[in-house]
Amino acid sequence: MMLELEFLDTGTIYSVIGEELSSYINNFEILPSVNSTNDYLLNKETLVAGTICLAEQQTAGRGRCGRNWLSPASGNLYLSLSWDFTKKIASLNGLTLVIGIAIINALNAYGLSRVKLKWPNDVYFSQRKLAGILVESAKITKNSTQVVIGIGLNIYMPQESTILNQPWIDVYSIEKHPPDRNRLAGLILRELFIALPKFQEFSLSAFRHRWQELDLLVGQELSIHTPKGDILGIGAGIDEFGNLLLRQGNTVQAFNSGEISVRFASFI
Ligand code: BTN
Repeated sequence: MMLELEFLDTGTIYSVIGEELSSYINNFEILPSVNSTNDYLLNKETLVAGTICLAEQQTAGRGRCGRNWLSPASGNLYLSLSWDFTKKIASLNGLTLVIGIAIINALNAYGLSRVKLKWPNDVYFSQRKLAGILVESAKITKNSTQVVIGIGLNIYMPQESTILNQPWIDVYSIEKHPPDRNRLAGLILRELFIALPKFQEFSLSAFRHRWQELDLLVGQELSIHTPKGDILGIGAGIDEFGNLLLRQGNTVQAFNSGEISVRFASFI
C-alpha cells in the first residue's frame, strides 16, 4: 500500500526552524514540480542569500559528477538554499563536509541514530545511501562566494526505484512509521543556519571533532578511483582542509574530492 504523506508547508517548516534562526530566510518557495531546485535558484536574475526552494518533485534532478538524482513526487526532500560567504572559493573546501554534519545533526534530532558520513558528502545508514549533497557556486568575486546548496534526502522512495545502481535506503524503511517531511525539512534548515555562520567564522576546524565521530571510512579498506587509476589503502580521516587521508603502509596521502570517487575495497 502506498503511504499518503503530508504536502510540504512553509508555515510548519518555519515553526520547526524557530523564530530566531528563521531570520536567515529571505525568500521561501515550495514548488509542486521543477527541473532541479538547484537550477531554479541558479537561474534567478537576482539571488539573495537565504533563498530557499523546496520541490515535491524534480524532473531533472542532478547529482554530483553529472549524474542524475532520482526525484519522484511527494515522498522525498529536494531542497536548495543560497548562501553568501565572505571567503574566497578556495577557502570553501570542507563546506560539503560541514553540510553533511548538519544533516546528520538534523536526523539525530528527528530521532534517527546510526547515520554516518561517507566522505566527501554522502549520508549513509547501514552501508546504504540516505542523502546526497550538491554544492554549486552561483557568484564569485575576489573575496566572496555565493553558493547554492542542494540536498536530496530519501524519505519515502517507491520500491522499484534505483539510484545510480548504488545501494540506497529511505527514512521510512529505517523508522517503519510515516515520516514527517516538514519536520525533517525544518530540522535540516535549522542545523544549516547554525552550521553555515559557524563555518564562515571558524572554518572546518570547528567541525573536525564531529566529523571523526561520523566518519564511515576511517579504518576501512578503500579503493580510490582517480583519473590515473585506482589506489588501495586504509581510510585515515581528513586533514584540516577536508581532504581524505589514505594510509598505505607508512605513508599517508591526501585526496581532494575534485576528481576522485571512493569505494569500499570489499565491494569491488
Ligand atoms: C549526490 O549525491 O550526487 C548529490 C545529490 C543532490 C541532489 C539534490 S536534490 C535538490 C538539489 N537539486 C538538484 O538537482 N540536486 C540537488
